[in-house]
Amino acid sequence: MPVETQTSAKDQAIGNAIREISHVATLPEITLKIISLVEDPKSTAQDLHKVIANDPALCARILKVVNSAFYGLPGQIGSINRAIVLLGLNAVKNIAIAASLAKLFKGGAITPTFAAKDLWAHSMAVASGSKMIADSLKLGLTDEAFLAGLIHDIGIVVEIQYDRHKLVETIEKLAPDDAGVPTADMLACEEQVFGASHQDFGRGLCEKWKFPKSFSYVTGYHHNPLKLPADCRTLANIVCLADKMAGALPLTDGGFRLDLPSLELPSDVMDDLKLSREKLDEIVAKLPETLETVKQMLAS
Ligand SMILES: [Fe+2]
Ligand SMILES: [Fe+2]
Repeated sequence: MPVETQTSAKDQAIGNAIREISHVATLPEITLKIISLVEDPKSTAQDLHKVIANDPALCARILKVVNSAFYGLPGQIGSINRAIVLLGLNAVKNIAIAASLAKLFKGGAITPTFAAKDLWAHSMAVASGSKMIADSLKLGLTDEAFLAGLIHDIGIVVEIQYDRHKLVETIEKLAPDDAGVPTADMLACEEQVFGASHQDFGRGLCEKWKFPKSFSYVTGYHHNPLKLPADCRTLANIVCLADKMAGALPLTDGGFRLDLPSLELPSDVMDDLKLSREKLDEIVAKLPETLETVKQMLAS
């Protein structure tokens, strides 16, 4: 098949899935509004406050996150305005998105060894690891890295909602053992069954949600970040490593790894980030503790 035909068949598969799921479950309208508002250079803290203030449940969730041990801010933050002043528009946007993502991962067992809630536990673990890696790199990417980890496998949520039978078929091809260790490459199996992989679906969804480009890079390339141009891949590199760290945890604690045949931390990605093995070992050791604070923070 010529390359162009292949690409357009894949684009069609992505387009069909994204169209189909857009009436099933997506981010709440208010979250989409917050994203577009923060992306607009003309918007102010007052604009953001006005939008959030209209949704008391979201206000409460944001304040819970802001006041969690995870942020470790001194004293109790009682208002969204104060949170915006202390953390900035961008951080509050990321918190609002994080606080509204959990409900997309609800749902029962998909196969005897996999349920959507395992994917949520995994996403929290990858978010925790990504934040810790970003902290240690001191690049000022902490909030972005956390959110990037939270959404990296959102393409699998697209697959669950679009056609769960096809996902079951994909998982059967992977023939995972009881610990969820696959015997084949998930991306290749997804291509065979869906005509596109969860990376493609994740990228498509981020584009549809009008997320900043860096999140499309993460969802689209977390398994092969070095395929991205050097100036676009820091977040994808971070998430790639955190994904493998999380994969080593027990399944119910974030160890989802159907898409990770190997948990070896890729040295080319570590080199690209200029991150030493010692630093990563420290992060791995602290991961369960950070994950615990994240779970409490995002519990509904
Ligand atoms: Fe993945
Ligand atoms: Fe993952």
